Amino acid sequence: MDLYGALRPLLFRLDPETAHNLAFWLGERACAWPRLPDPALPLGLRRRAFGLEFPTPLGLAAGLDKGATLLPLWKALGFGHVEIGTVTPRPQPGNPRPRLFRFPQAGLILNRMGFNSEGAAVVAGRLRHRPPGLLVGGNLGKNKETPEALALDDYRAAYRLIAPQVDYIALNVSSPNTPGLRNLQAPEALKPLLAGMLTLRRELGLERQPLLLKLAPDLAPEDLDAIVEVAVASGISGLIATNTTLDRGVVDEPLRAFVETKGAGGLSGEPLKVKAREVRRRILAALRGRLPLVACGGLGSPEDVQGALDDGAALAQIYSALIFQGPGLVAAVHQHLTTTPARA
Ligand SMILES: Cc1cc2nc3c(=O)[nH]c(=O)nc-3n(C[C@H](O)[C@H](O)[C@H](O)COP(=O)(O)O)c2cc1C
Repeated sequence: MDLYGALRPLLFRLDPETAHNLAFWLGERACAWPRLPDPALPLGLRRRAFGLEFPTPLGLAAGLDKGATLLPLWKALGFGHVEIGTVTPRPQPGNPRPRLFRFPQAGLILNRMGFNSEGAAVVAGRLRHRPPGLLVGGNLGKNKETPEALALDDYRAAYRLIAPQVDYIALNVSSPNTPGLRNLQAPEALKPLLAGMLTLRRELGLERQPLLLKLAPDLAPEDLDAIVEVAVASGISGLIATNTTLDRGVVDEPLRAFVETKGAGGLSGEPLKVKAREVRRRILAALRGRLPLVACGGLGSPEDVQGALDDGAALAQIYSALIFQGPGLVAAVHQHLTTTPARA
């Protein structure tokens, strides 16, 4: 049995956030170890996306390593990129606990973390010591107290600190746990947000750094089409789809009723799979190759990752499946991608 397989029964007996903190405590010890393995990924896994060379299409989605504390470990596990964050400009505690729930029988996670963040200055300081050979994306959000009308100021403040330390930036306008955040996906709000960020990017001399937008799975098809047109016209570099869903309908009864008792939050993992895939296919059809898409949401097996890439995604990210299956999933995905020919 692998190490995670041995630890999992203990971790899953603990309250999820305590388990997360224990896993991170162990991970930090592992990162201090001078001889972490270097997975030496086969050259055939390489992908080029938005001007960057990725050692593998598989990355770690935002929200697990919010503070960029375990970068050497993610690299050792074989991830080609890690999206750190969401980072808010100023530190904030996030929502009160409990705010994280696991449903292992369904491969489902419910979270309402609410952007617990050490703030951009602290995270930027840590990024100065990032390991070579791992691409890092900085996922940015706004502070809870910041009114929606001033959201751009928050994204810009976080960008100034984080962007110089990372390979790409993702604007998170799709977390369901910051009131009003998802309203920024509306075209009339999105246009000035993207324009303002691209102006800042130019002012800082970071024109060549990709700027991506991360979307929710809960948008109507026509809204997705409109957002795609705004994104393409704006000149940003790509899209990430999807974030967690508010839709309880993705969970079958009787589990759904049990999930409802846990309160508000976004759902991720296996039950999100079909919905996220439908949203991505709609986006890919609307994009017609004009921008790259990063697939995220419900990817739980090597076949899921391969399927998302075959659908046309440039890269793929996982989160929930890593919690339930452990890091062996990364190696399994790589094994599958190197031995299975891509669908024509
Ligand atoms: C506990 C938890 C915290 C998350 N935090 C963030 C976050 O801070 N920013 C973000 O953009 N996405 C966040 N996400 C969403 C993931 O990045 C991902 O979009 C979502 O979980 C769907 O992928 P999955 O089904 O592979 O988990 C979080 C997800 C979970 C489960």
